Amino acid sequence: SSNKRVLILAGDGIGPEVMGQVERVMEWLSARRSFSFDVQSGLVGGVSYEAHGTPLTDETLADAVAADAVLFGAVGGPQWDSVAREARPEMGILRLRKEMDLYANLRPALVFDPLVEASTLKDEVVRGLDLMIVRELTGGIYFGEPRGVETLPDGTRRGFDTEVYSAPEIERVSRVAFELARRRDNRVHSVEKANVMESGKFWRDEVTALHAADYTDVALEHMYADNCAMQLVRRPKQFDVIVTSNLFGDLLSDCAAMLTGSLGIPSDEGGNRKALYEPVHGSAPDIVGQNLANPLAALLSFTMMLRYSFGAADDADLIEAAVQDVLAGGLRTADIMQDGMTAASTDAMGDAVLGALDARAA
Ligand code: NAD
Ligand code: IPM
Ligand code: MN
Repeated sequence: SSNKRVLILAGDGIGPEVMGQVERVMEWLSARRSFSFDVQSGLVGGVSYEAHGTPLTDETLADAVAADAVLFGAVGGPQWDSVAREARPEMGILRLRKEMDLYANLRPALVFDPLVEASTLKDEVVRGLDLMIVRELTGGIYFGEPRGVETLPDGTRRGFDTEVYSAPEIERVSRVAFELARRRDNRVHSVEKANVMESGKFWRDEVTALHAADYTDVALEHMYADNCAMQLVRRPKQFDVIVTSNLFGDLLSDCAAMLTGSLGIPSDEGGNRKALYEPVHGSAPDIVGQNLANPLAALLSFTMMLRYSFGAADDADLIEAAVQDVLAGGLRTADIMQDGMTAASTDAMGDAVLGALDARAA
């Protein structure tokens, strides 16, 4: 038995609500199985801003780098809308990504059979769906310079950002996608707007060259981002692995999340040995404090941590099976329920998962 050092950064809004359920499952694992966690927690986002005037302190960043893995909840909220950009809660996660060099963000969209009905799309369009978006996470327009707001000589004010990708940035994230595809269905779609953007054309050329050099066994297709958005709702099962830029990946992963019935999908930010795991959803200010949030995305992010950071596939399988049991039994939080169902609370969902774990472990 080995102690894994996990830093929990629950953040704002529903972050602490969903992370509370994850902690219950961690305790269950520690008590019942060989696994043991040294759990530390810290502040990030708006709660850190309130306490320290910054969304991420150097101390918390150092804790994140020192941990074996980081579990992240969500950041942000309308109460911080007027805060200057550098101090906004969202800068907390952006700085973690950059400083930890988490350049490859894996965002799976997996449709659980019992949840097919929760998708807004037809049964046959989504049943059995299993795709993976590899989103570049430390470059592109999120970090490109120059950026800012300026006043031109004629008095016109304007805001601007820069989309920029270097060859090494494109190569390392594309390698992650090709390697993943080899362990899946061996197909990659590289997504950009090479028809309009210089950086998009460059992206396409670099991916093409890498493919020719090292990955000719993987089927590669190029697709424009707008078409990809359309194809995701038209025929999502055509995709296996999608690799794309930071901004397109942000949009396309929210779209893909909804194919599964909910924003409740997990997300693994890594690329190096260090990794951070978080649900794709945000702080959900509209439902905060009401015990309504779906904790499954956070819980499934934790199973990705078990699987990819700690090599504990059996524990991850067990928790995923327990989640399947609960969904097959008909329990639903409000975001994934159909007409005529009663919404289960966040706590009730957590109780049910623990119950299913007990039943499977008995
Ligand atoms: P959001 O994901 O917070 O919410 C979008 C919608 O989905 C809301 O109606 C919300 O109630 C619902 N929803 C989200 N997660 C849910 C869950 N677990 N269970 C049930 N319903 C859920 O996105 P938003 O409203 O665009 O943004 C709100 C704030 O969150 C903003 O400040 C934004 O910057 C931030 N945000 C943070 C992250 C992150 O921390 N990684 C991600 C996205 C948005
Ligand atoms: C996400 C979020 C973040 C992003 C925000 C909160 C900075 O939307 O993780 O998808 O845009 O990357
Ligand atoms: Mn997003």
